[in-house]
Amino acid sequence: MKTLETERLRLERWSVRKDAADLFAYAQDPDVGPNAGWAPHKNIRESKMRIRQIFLPNDTWKIVDKETGRAIGSIGLEPDARRPGIRSMELGYSMAKDYWGRGLMTEAGTAVLEYAFTDLGLEIVTITTGPDNRRSRRVIEKLGFIYEGKLRRAFKIYDGTLRDVLCYSLFRSEWEAAEAARGRT
Ligand SMILES: CC(C)(COP(=O)(O)OP(=O)(O)OC[C@H]1O[C@@H](n2cnc3c(N)ncnc32)[C@H](O)[C@@H]1OP(=O)(O)O)[C@@H](O)C(=O)NCCC(=O)NCCS
Repeated sequence: MKTLETERLRLERWSVRKDAADLFAYAQDPDVGPNAGWAPHKNIRESKMRIRQIFLPNDTWKIVDKETGRAIGSIGLEPDARRPGIRSMELGYSMAKDYWGRGLMTEAGTAVLEYAFTDLGLEIVTITTGPDNRRSRRVIEKLGFIYEGKLRRAFKIYDGTLRDVLCYSLFRSEWEAAEAARGRT
C-alpha cells in the first residue's frame, strides 16, 4: 500500500504495536464510532484487534498529524457491495474529535480520491452516511460527490438500531472535470 502525503497529513499503514494507544484514545469517544455505526472501543485490546482484523486486511490508512506524529484518524476504500463487478469502491473515514472542523478529513479524502482514480484506476467511488451526520455530509459535498438518494432503514448499527442510508457517488469523469476546473490537470 502506498503512503500518501498532504500539506498537514501523512496517510500510511497502521501498526498494531505502535498505534493501538492512539486509536484507543479517539475510538473510545462516544461521539466518534457511533456516528459511523460502530461501538466505542472498550479497551486497547479491542483497538489492536480492529487494526489487525479490519484496517490491515483492507489497506485502510492511518491518518497521521505531521506536526505531532500522532495517529488521529483512519480512511480507507472498501469493496462497493452495491456495485458488484464494477470498478467501484466505497470510501469510509473517522477522526479524533479534537481534530474536527479544521478541514483535515477533506484534505485526507482529496488525496485518497486522487489515488483511487489514478493509481487504482477506479471508475466510481461511492460513500454513504446517515441523515444526522451533518459534518460527514459536508465533507462528502466538499469532496465533490453527487447525492443519489436514500435507502430507508438499510444499515443496522452496532446496537441494533436501523438507520437510513444516504448514498453518494463520484464518477472518474466528474472527478477529472473538477480537477481540470481547479487547474490541477
Ligand atoms: C465526519 C468527520 C470525519 C469530519 O471530519 P472533519 O475533519 O471535521 O471535516 P472537515 O473539517 O473537513 O469538514 C467538516 C465540515 O462540517 C461542518 N460542520 C461542522 N459541524 C457541523 C454541523 N453541526 N452541521 C453542519 N456542518 C457542520 C464544518 O464547518 C466543515 O465544513 P466547512 O469546511 O464548510 O466549514 C468527523 O467529524 C468524524 O470523524 N466523525 C465521527 C465519525 C464519522 O462520522 N465518520 C463518517 C461516517 S459516514
